[in-house]
Amino acid sequence: MASFWSLLTLYAGLVFLQLAQAQATCNLSPRIAEQLRSLLSPRSEVVLTSNASFATDFVQRFSVNRAPSFVVAVKPASAADVGRVVRYASQNNVPFLATGGGHGYTWSLSRLQCGIDLDLSSFDSIAIDNAANTMTIGGSALSDNVTRALYAAGKELPVGMCTCVGFTGFTLGGGIGPYSGLYGAASDSLISAELVTGTGQLLTVSKTQHPDLFWGLKGAGFNYGVATALTFRVYPATNGGQAVVTNMIFPGALNGTVWQVLSAFFGNQPKELGLALSVGYQEQRGGMVIIVGFVYAGPEAESTALLKPFLDLNPLNLQILNTPWEDVPEVIVYGATRAGCQKGAQFVPYSVNLYKVDVPNLINVVGYMQTTLAANATLRSAIVTWAQYAPYGFQRYADDSSAFPYRAATAFVQINAFSPSAEQVPALDGFARELRDRFQRGSGSRSLETYVHFGHGDETPAAWYSARKLPRLQELKRVYDPKSLFSWYNAVPVRRDYW
Ligand SMILES: Cc1cc2nc3c(=O)[nH]c(=O)nc-3n(C[C@H](O)[C@H](O)[C@H](O)COP(=O)(O)OP(=O)(O)OC[C@H]3O[C@@H](n4cnc5c(N)ncnc54)[C@H](O)[C@@H]3O)c2cc1C
Ligand SMILES: *[C@@H]1O[C@H](CO)[C@@H](O)[C@H](O)[C@H]1NC(C)=O
Ligand SMILES: *[C@@H]1O[C@H](CO)[C@@H](O)[C@H](O)[C@H]1NC(C)=O
Ligand SMILES: *[C@@H]1O[C@H](CO)[C@@H](O)[C@H](O)[C@H]1NC(C)=O
Ligand SMILES: *[C@@H]1O[C@H](CO)[C@@H](O)[C@H](O)[C@H]1NC(C)=O
Repeated sequence: MASFWSLLTLYAGLVFLQLAQAQATCNLSPRIAEQLRSLLSPRSEVVLTSNASFATDFVQRFSVNRAPSFVVAVKPASAADVGRVVRYASQNNVPFLATGGGHGYTWSLSRLQCGIDLDLSSFDSIAIDNAANTMTIGGSALSDNVTRALYAAGKELPVGMCTCVGFTGFTLGGGIGPYSGLYGAASDSLISAELVTGTGQLLTVSKTQHPDLFWGLKGAGFNYGVATALTFRVYPATNGGQAVVTNMIFPGALNGTVWQVLSAFFGNQPKELGLALSVGYQEQRGGMVIIVGFVYAGPEAESTALLKPFLDLNPLNLQILNTPWEDVPEVIVYGATRAGCQKGAQFVPYSVNLYKVDVPNLINVVGYMQTTLAANATLRSAIVTWAQYAPYGFQRYADDSSAFPYRAATAFVQINAFSPSAEQVPALDGFARELRDRFQRGSGSRSLETYVHFGHGDETPAAWYSARKLPRLQELKRVYDPKSLFSWYNAVPVRRDYW
């Protein structure tokens, strides 16, 4: 008992210290701003977030629900300046977060209060070496900008479903999209990174320089530092850069058949074919619908032949678009992912990886959604999305080639809701979590596994990183971020007994 009470006292003391520290940072913000200004090169910018120019000149967040809060925002002009900010924050115990595209949405970010926003906007360069098949980008270049530059150069790389995310943030967590069927995660094509670590050093990290850290950057990178630049291997565009996007809508009544057909693709999906589907309640159709979007990196005739089992189900709507691959994220699933570019959302995210298609369980989930959503309109913004990319790309790289732990996952399920207001967040949260748990029961994995970028923040570190990779990631933490400065975004814990 004695040890219980002393532990409790110690814990209460720690909580108090943290609160006191956060409070102190909030109050000291003008001084922090002054001190940073005096440390940084003249082209850097420093503002208080209370200054109106913060909202117009700095990157704003996609989700403002359970978001981090900042008192000072800084735009370092150079990698040396990034190092100065990191060392200043470390020495003065001020929390900070690097901001790339501002699209990270895990609720774990809300633990950061009254911090420094390290806005990487000055690092937005993109340079492609056509002959060498490489691309170097700055730490804030956006997915859309990267995609368009690659397409214009006749190259390609896996990009995600949302054009507005930072391509560096995306890559540091793995980075998955339709062309992962061909090339694996975006991080599998990483050649090197320029990184300011938690010890304030500027390192070049690659297969030959700090190879241990290079391994960890590919899937868990935001735990170790601020990447000012990344260099990738890129590939000549498949099929001359032309893709076929096929969108279909099925009524909920057909869900069992759709899952059945889908399960036939599972595990033997051609590498050129990616699919995204979304399951939700459509008021105008009076019930559940399944909307499927396919992308095929090849000729339309081949795509149509492959999709025959779906076409034979007579979808309520069919759309076939021949499109440059750069436009795929804009048009797949009827352009639904464009909503992901709107800043300021009250986002409620959950996710679970699937390792099999459990048809009876999926029918149960859809039935539960139908019953609940028919009775309660408040919850109808909750949508299930399902991304399924061919295994070929992921299997090109061995499991131990990087920290990315989901090569065997065949579907990444997300249950996401855009809450119309902060008041409705708790109801949507409860419903979305219940759906996550129901999907998990048929996932083919005993414990919850979640792609780190899609996580809610309530999962365990083992769910994000896998128990087999965590010890190595924790060892890297001790070396490159011993003070846990990078601990806000679904983080690798330093302590072993955390999980
Ligand atoms: C609508 C939507 C759709 C998405 N679709 C996909 C998808 O299809 N596939 C996929 O893989 N992901 C997808 N994501 C997830 C996305 O990849 C992550 O949210 C990613 O973190 C976004 O990076 P960001 O720079 O925009 O975010 P930020 O919020 O700026 O950063 C997120 C985290 O990464 C860190 N970070 C960002 N840049 C750097 C840097 N240069 N150096 C070090 N750390 C950095 C931040 O400090 C923070 O911890 C989607 C997200 C949204 C909102
Ligand atoms: C707000 O920021 C702008 C741009 O950095 C600066 O010129 C201005 O002086 C700031 N205003 C205040 C009140 O600090
Ligand atoms: C992206 O491209 C747009 C349009 O060319 C440009 O205005 C913007 O500065 C670029 N931003 C980033 C972060 O890459
Ligand atoms: C889903 O499919 C099953 C099996 O065909 C069917 O019994 C059920 O009614 C369908 N669900 C909905 C919501 O239509
Ligand atoms: C809908 O669900 C929410 C949350 O569970 C609840 O507060 C609300 O009363 C429900 N509305 C109806 C009409 O059942």
